[in-house]
Amino acid sequence: MSSPSLIDRFGRRIEYVRLSVTDRCDLRCSYCMPEGFTGFEEPEHWLNFDEIERLVGAFARLGVRHLRLTGGEPLLRRDIAGLAARLAALPGLTDLSLSTNATQLERHARALKAAGVTRLNVSLDSLQQARVEKINGRDVLARVMRGLDAARDAGFAPIKLNMVAMAGENDDEIDAMVAFCMERGFVLRLIEAMPMGDTGRNAHYLDLQPVRARLEKQFGLIETSQPGAGPARYLGAPDGRFNVGFITPLSQHFCESCNRVRVSVDGTAYLCLGQDEKFEFRPLLRGGASDADLEAAIREAIELKPERHEFREAPGKILRFMSMTGG
Ligand code: 5AD
Ligand code: SF4
Repeated sequence: MSSPSLIDRFGRRIEYVRLSVTDRCDLRCSYCMPEGFTGFEEPEHWLNFDEIERLVGAFARLGVRHLRLTGGEPLLRRDIAGLAARLAALPGLTDLSLSTNATQLERHARALKAAGVTRLNVSLDSLQQARVEKINGRDVLARVMRGLDAARDAGFAPIKLNMVAMAGENDDEIDAMVAFCMERGFVLRLIEAMPMGDTGRNAHYLDLQPVRARLEKQFGLIETSQPGAGPARYLGAPDGRFNVGFITPLSQHFCESCNRVRVSVDGTAYLCLGQDEKFEFRPLLRGGASDADLEAAIREAIELKPERHEFREAPGKILRFMSMTGG
């Protein structure tokens, strides 16, 4: 009998799937998608809800516990809460989370909570209107703030804020963001911009190690662990009331503890953000594959997972945008 778990060639247990439900987005973050981008996937290639449910169900039977819905912007997919409810009900999945830019969150927060979404990550790179417009391509700060309020009111806790920290763009706002998150009870995640597509490559890389050392001292933070932290490393206030995570793919990579695969809206699994290895599930899903075939294909895909990314060694390598792979 095969074991109900997915272990790759490097001994890593794969327990986490990040599934993109759309590659469309209403924003144009400078590090993610270029203004005027038109290379979107054809809607007939999007996995439908039945296909998604089958694929995620197969992953869950093989030991995947955590599913994150991403995009593009996942709240742009029609009836996202309906999809979330179906996925939350799958046996084996214990954690269903969602990453959003929060522009539509005010309308969706309650339904998502009711559907069984357990945790939310919200992108927020600046607290200044003009900067949000520049970095994220649209004037949406007020809407995002209303989205955050709605999420809190709907009972989401913790809410994590993702800030891509960029030299000369928003690095002078890190302290303001720390203060904002402390006050509002949000977990802050500071992220180094990855060279994805041509966009991330042009983003102004900021080494977060000195930032981490400074915050540690200034706020008396200590190292903490967070459930399901994956590649993020967390510091927290000693009283446990505040946590800040560091996602440092460039200054310190954690590929050896990578526990995830990404599946794009067209049913392609990407085994690493920074490498080309991929596996297409759509032909199987549309070609009458049995559940056993699907499970065998998932095992085959996991065998392709590379040891590590090479963002530092080969920053020009990858042509995929983040919005295509799933953030
Ligand atoms: N580098 C780092 N993070 C990125 N994201 C998107 N593109 C990049 C990139 N090039 C992350 C942002 C956003 C999430 C959806 O994906 O943190 O919050
Ligand atoms: Fe949209 Fe997220 Fe990409 Fe920004 S980072 S353009 S919000 S998908």
